[in-house]
Amino acid sequence: MTDEGTWELIDCYAAAMLRAKEAGCDGVQVHIAHGYLLSEFISPYTNRREDQWGGSIENRTRILKEIIIRGKKLTGDDYPVLVKLNTTDGFAGAGYLSLEDALYTAKLMDSLGVAAIEVSGGIKESKKGFAWPVINTPEKEAYFGAAAKKIKDEVSCPVILVGGLRSLAVMESVIDQGTADMVALCRPFIKEPDLVKRFINGQARVACASCNGCFNPKGISCNYQAGK
Ligand SMILES: Cc1cc2nc3c(=O)[nH]c(=O)nc-3n(C[C@H](O)[C@H](O)[C@H](O)COP(=O)(O)O)c2cc1C
Repeated sequence: MTDEGTWELIDCYAAAMLRAKEAGCDGVQVHIAHGYLLSEFISPYTNRREDQWGGSIENRTRILKEIIIRGKKLTGDDYPVLVKLNTTDGFAGAGYLSLEDALYTAKLMDSLGVAAIEVSGGIKESKKGFAWPVINTPEKEAYFGAAAKKIKDEVSCPVILVGGLRSLAVMESVIDQGTADMVALCRPFIKEPDLVKRFINGQARVACASCNGCFNPKGISCNYQAGK
């Protein structure tokens, strides 16, 4: 992508944020996670650029900074702009997105006035990606909890934790222990759209088995196994 193309893209993001506001959306979430373009920019694994958009973490986050500044200018200070942020690429070792880089990005987003940071991680090329399979014990839940806590300790905006939350007790402990301010769930709501009511009525755990059948390209089917 050329320098000119990058600036054009920044304007496209800002224009999209304004379109969402004008269409009546209550807020927007800028996606800096899961291997999509903006998370590719922040990771040294996918960003090998040697210009002002690559190299140092300051350069790798430059595109986000410009998007948030321009987007907020267009939508107004009161309009909620959230971000979903990768805290890891999902690979161990050097050369990938580090928690230190994620912390830098979170603090930058906070300083620019984002309404909340949703903490996630993983890219498709990594073994587990962002939707880890078979979350069947409390120990496997909240798999980005440690990263969320580190970020929460350093930012003033609310932090939302997503990823593998399956039991009410773990969700409550995430809030009580100050790991995050809010929790978000995805796959459990596909299995049980009325999950909140079920929790209120005493259900303690979601029915979702984290089989990832909801990724089945032919249609959602719980316990679907890729290739079978
Ligand atoms: C079918 C499906 C589609 C998803 N699409 C998106 C998406 O468009 N954007 C996004 O940020 N996350 C997406 N996710 C990831 C979820 O938002 C969430 O981060 C992930 O599933 C982990 O949370 P969970 O354990 O509660 O499912 C998707 C997940 C599933 C299962």
